[in-house]
Amino acid sequence: MAMANPGTGCVWVTGASSGIGSEVAARLAGDGHKVAISARSRESLRNLASEQENTNLHDFELDVTDGIAVAQTAAAIEAELGHIHTAVLCAGTYKPISAGAFDAMEACRQVDVNVGGVLNCLDPLLRAMLTRGTGHIAIVSSLTSRFGLPNAGVYGASKAGLVNLAEALRVECEGKGVTIQIINPGFVETPLTQQNTFEMPFLVPVDQAAETIVSGLATNRFEIAFPWQMDLATRFLRFLPRRLAFALTRRMVTS
Ligand SMILES: NC(=O)c1ccc[n+]([C@@H]2O[C@H](COP(=O)([O-])OP(=O)(O)OC[C@H]3O[C@@H](n4cnc5c(N)ncnc54)[C@H](OP(=O)(O)O)[C@@H]3O)[C@@H](O)[C@H]2O)c1
Repeated sequence: MAMANPGTGCVWVTGASSGIGSEVAARLAGDGHKVAISARSRESLRNLASEQENTNLHDFELDVTDGIAVAQTAAAIEAELGHIHTAVLCAGTYKPISAGAFDAMEACRQVDVNVGGVLNCLDPLLRAMLTRGTGHIAIVSSLTSRFGLPNAGVYGASKAGLVNLAEALRVECEGKGVTIQIINPGFVETPLTQQNTFEMPFLVPVDQAAETIVSGLATNRFEIAFPWQMDLATRFLRFLPRRLAFALTRRMVTS
């Protein structure tokens, strides 16, 4: 089942205070959906709602690593806006971690936000959607999930875990009215990628990324991957013999 009509319940977008989440939320609100936007920075959420002058955007301050707060927020959204028919789980974080400066605390923090945050949201969402027999959950992973890239191993591992999780849930939930999708962007121009000092191939403007995601949500495809050049390049890396794939990724080692 593709995305529900605007009239029925609401959409929840996590990580909506900036970047991809913010653009996706604005676009969905513009299409007439009631949209719950959540993130830690309430001020940025409020700015988004006032900039867009769109009464369809409703802000909920939330740290996705706090499981109790996530459950309370899901309940508050449903009380205020009606049932959540679609959730776009976009909250995520990235900092490069090299082997030479490995930092377990930072690594665990990234896994906690990227994986733990999604698990916390799935808890109330799956229960409610499976009980109702209808719903749609799209999880934001990354094309880095396809192959381990130097200095991005922890981030890539967290995102690869999300793909595996979504593959399992897709099959478990089909036939029960709940659609699971995975969103795999390449490089998108957002605050998250501003820290990158290397040239990012096929960098996508954030509005274009949001447009691709919103069109993908209207389909029943499992994966929304873009841009096609990075989709193809990472598929190629995956299917190359490891020796050749490592010869390519070795060129990205900077420290
Ligand atoms: N940009 C890319 O090239 C790219 C590529 C592939 C995948 N992605 C993924 O796309 C998603 C969005 O990233 P972006 O590029 O748009 O980066 P961004 O602009 O930095 O957005 C990240 C969002 O996640 C929220 N967030 C971070 N930690 C959180 C926490 N503990 N609790 C709740 N919200 C939290 C941030 O809000 P607060 O700080 O206000 O909480 C922000 O709204 C991420 O999952 C990222 O991994 C990005």
